[in-house]
Amino acid sequence: MDELRIGFGEDAHRLAEGRSLVLGGVSLPEATRGPLAHSDGDALLHAVTDALLSAWALGDIGAHFPDTDPAHAGADSAGLLRGALTVALAAAGELRPRQVSAVVTLDRPKLGPHRGAIAASLAELLDLPLDRVGVTFKTSEGLAPDHVQARAVVLWG
Ligand code: C5P
Ligand code: MG
Repeated sequence: MDELRIGFGEDAHRLAEGRSLVLGGVSLPEATRGPLAHSDGDALLHAVTDALLSAWALGDIGAHFPDTDPAHAGADSAGLLRGALTVALAAAGELRPRQVSAVVTLDRPKLGPHRGAIAASLAELLDLPLDRVGVTFKTSEGLAPDHVQARAVVLWG
């Protein structure tokens, strides 16, 4: 069998008034709260970024882009993802990301109307066709109304 690699990533942020909600690189203007974070707090991109690194045992986002580093304050998470992808590709030989599957848990707003835009953004960032980008949404059923959480798996082949 040709070599395959798989990486899993997760991220969560507390939601607060006066913060913008960005998920998968897409701004959600109807959100009344957004993540408290050193960067833009894009939990979905952070989960995908960790999944990219994890597939190659390259540590995690904080190891490569420390949140104590002022250079990363308010950082565009797409830039962090691209940086991690470059590091992972350097370890990956001929392999590259072939598929991403992600779950976002958020009570509100509804994310379904943004699924196409979020999937297209991930597809562009990972250079994947849309039919290899699965994005699903869940509420916490009220168990974590003040959090946004994302989990992602990336397959390399
Ligand atoms: O969490 P729950 O199973 O009740 O979510 C039902 C459906 O609502 C999900 O399958 C998803 O399509 C949608 N949803 C959404 N935006 C959210 C949470 C859930 O569009 N923030
Ligand atoms: Mg349910």
